[in-house]
Parts: sequence; structure tokens; C-alpha cells
Amino acid sequence: SGSFSFDLVIFGATGDLSLRKLVPALYHRDVAGQLNDDARLFAVARGAMSDADYREMAAAALREHVAADDFDAARADRFLQRFRYLTLDAQKSDDYQSLKSALDGGDERIVVFYLAMAPRFFGPICTQLARAGLNSAEARVVLEKPIGQDLASARAINEAVAAAFPENRVFRIDHYLGKETVQNLMALRFANALFEPIWHRGVVDHVQVTVAERIGVEGRADYYDHAGALRDMIQNHLLQLLCLVAMEPPNEFAADAVRDEKLKVLEALRPITDREVGDKTVRGQYARGSVEGAAAASYLDELGHSSNTETFVVVKAEVETWRWAGVPFYLRTGKRLPVRHSEIVVQFRPVPHLIFPAAARDVVPNRLVIRLQPDEGIALHMMSKVPGPGGMRLRTAPLNLSFAEAFRGRQPDAYERLLMDVVRGNPMLFMRSDEVEAAWRWAEPILAAWTGQDDAPKPYNAGSWGPSAAIGLIERDGRNWHEDM
Ligand code: BG6
Repeated sequence: SGSFSFDLVIFGATGDLSLRKLVPALYHRDVAGQLNDDARLFAVARGAMSDADYREMAAAALREHVAADDFDAARADRFLQRFRYLTLDAQKSDDYQSLKSALDGGDERIVVFYLAMAPRFFGPICTQLARAGLNSAEARVVLEKPIGQDLASARAINEAVAAAFPENRVFRIDHYLGKETVQNLMALRFANALFEPIWHRGVVDHVQVTVAERIGVEGRADYYDHAGALRDMIQNHLLQLLCLVAMEPPNEFAADAVRDEKLKVLEALRPITDREVGDKTVRGQYARGSVEGAAAASYLDELGHSSNTETFVVVKAEVETWRWAGVPFYLRTGKRLPVRHSEIVVQFRPVPHLIFPAAARDVVPNRLVIRLQPDEGIALHMMSKVPGPGGMRLRTAPLNLSFAEAFRGRQPDAYERLLMDVVRGNPMLFMRSDEVEAAWRWAEPILAAWTGQDDAPKPYNAGSWGPSAAIGLIERDGRNWHEDM
């Protein structure tokens, strides 16, 4: 921990992400004592607004997004006093001069520019910051995902940003990397002697990564309709999870050592060709249905016009390395599914030889289930003898680790950890430019094949597990989705 003196400038401070995630995260870090008295927060957006107006807006965000138990009115008040509001037009050089004079902290001071904006602004803002001389040695820039729409636009952004800030001061957020359970994947694999020796094609049959959401597109239809689930979730969050499961042990727990290993995984992803896309991917879009007993609108009803954007995807990914040859990674994500539930399932192979003839049919292979959210924990499904004198009957039962039981206290939100890592200057849990580009290099042909083949997303009822083709895809391989959620 420790506490820090710094200035944080939030571009897009009146937007959804800032109010829902950044302001509450900063409040929690302030309460934890990590912000020195002189730490300052600058809220920047286009519209005119007084400091008092912005503080009121941020106060409302805290009341909405901070749990009642963690909310302290007096502390919130002191925290809000750190905010100043500045009107800025991202295209206007003069406005950056005003920002510069407001900052006035000298070159030694840590300044974080957080771009909570659409990616088309990343390049232009960084260029302007550099022109105004705001890219001092202690300045950092934070970019929200998505980085571009495809490989070419991601490259263009990375180049424009690189002209203003060196790579080690560019923090590309993938907030999944800030989740406690995601970081715990590295503890599981590299702080236990048990798993690494069995973590390969000899023992592992396949891996499933599921990120299921119950919510629909909410107020973000404009953004979402141009993105879709592959760009919004698979290209970043699910691929990052795949990397942490599949990567080789890094030589040390350091930013580039870890990111080098993740990059190798991304580069080893087998390209999905035009011809294979029908077998290896499924895209869906939610139709009307019911979620938790209430009628739920279709994606198109929410959007108000027709659209071919997918809200659900399954991809069968393969990592072409000695460790993982022939071991599929089934990636699945969607909106308006029955539950909010994210997990990684490592499915092991069957025992090589069965000595229990009568009970043979009951022996199921081991499964390691890593629950990312909610109810964070790890379950190892093992065969056990059913107690009783009736002979050798076998059944599977889990060995359970619940983080809430093992570790008391509040689970900090991903953004809290990530924001402080930016201040500390530690980019380990952020995507390097080459990772982003490698991920696009794999994702782009899938998008192109869908478009080229006029592959309309298959409808699924809101509140269901996606189109039946999603089940067909894995069952064709003689496997099934882990269901016990
Ligand atoms: C964001 C996506 O990156 O992640 C959203 O843009 C999605 O569409 C969200 O809802 C999911 O994050 P979490 O932390 O709620 O799992």
C-alpha cells in the first residue's frame, strides 16, 4: 500500500464509466488512506459546469454505487473537495493550456491522464497533451478498452499514443486483470506445486471460459451496436483469461516478464479460417424472453432498429504449442443469460484404466472450476466413495475453497487496484500494445468471415443459455458445458 501525492485528470468525467467505476474506486482508496492530502482530482468534460455541480454529480454516484456499509458522509464530503471541474474541448489546443496552468505541479509530480472516452479520441488527446508539454517524465496515460475496432485502427491508436508517451507509461485497461480472482490465477498456478505438473495436454482434456451476464445492453446500445460481443468481451477479457491459464511460467513476477508470456499465447492462437468459422464459432442475439421471472425485451426492441450485432458468442480457440496442442479452449460470453456468472473450467482426462467394473459408469473425470464472480472460489471435483456398507459406489464431490470464507473483509473492485497501479507506475496488469495487436490479429478474421458470409446472429430467448448451436458446438466434440452454476 503506501500513500501517494498525485494529480489525476479524468477525461470524460461525466460519463458512465467515470461515475459508476472511477469515482467510487477513488473514494475507497481515499478512505483506505492511499491519497495524500495534496492529491488532486480534475474532472474534465466538454460541457460547462461548476466545481460544485460536479461534486454534486459525483456525490450522487457515490450514493448509488458505494455499499451502504462502506459509505461515510463526512469522508465522502472531504473526498469530493479534491475535485475540480474543467471544461475542455478535446480538439482545442487552447484548452490544454488552461489544463496545464491548472496542473502547475512541476515535472516531478505524478500526473495521470485517464481517457474514459471513445477510442477515436485517444490519439488526438495524446498528441495535444504532448504539444502542451504535459507528457513529463512522471505523466501517465490510461486508455479504456476497446483499443480500436480492428487491427488497423488499434495500430493507428498505438502509434499516435507512442509518439507522445513511452510504452511503460501507457496503461491500457482491461479491468478483468484487476479482479481479485483473476490475479489469483497466477497464485493458483505459480504458488502451488500441485497444479503445474498436470497443466498440459497429457492430463487436461479441454478448458472452458464462461463470462455470463444477466444484464442487457442497458444505456450503452450506441457503443455496443458498433462493437458486439466479440469486440466487447472476447478480444480482451476472455482472451486475457485464456492467456493467464495457458501461459508458461514467467521468469519473474514483473510486468514485461508476465506480458511476454501472455503475448506468446496470443501469437500461438490458431487462426480461424473462413471455412472453419461456421464450425468453430456461434453468434447469437437475444430475443424477447424472461429474466428472473420478469418479461425482458429483445436486443432489437432496446435498440429501436434492425441490427446484425451479436450479444452472445462461443469460440473454440486453440493454442498451438507443445503444452496445449489438441486441447480446445471453449470461450463463451453473452448478455441476457440466466445468471451473472464467470468461471474457468479445467477439465481433466479420464483415468487411464478403470478397476471398478460395477461402478465404472459412475466415474467422471476431474474438473477444476475457478469461479471468478460472484461467490469467488475454487472447486476441485473429485470422485469419492459413497459412504455405506453397500459396496464400492462412487460419486463426484467438490473440494471447495470459498474466498469469502477464507479471507474476510471487503473485496475491492478491480478499478481500485488498477488505478493505484497506474499511480505506482506498475503496468503488469495492463495490456501492452503488442498484446492488443496480437489479439486483434486473431479476432479480425472471425469478424471478417461473419460479415463476408452474411452470418446473421442466431436468436436466443433472453434468460436462456444462448442459441442451441452453442450446445451443439461443444457436444459435437463429445463434451458438454459445465452446468452447475
Ligand atoms: C465491459 C464491457 O468491459 O465489461 C461490458 O464493455 C460488460 O459490456 C462488462 O458488461 C462486464 O464487466 P464485469 O466486471 O461486470 O464482469
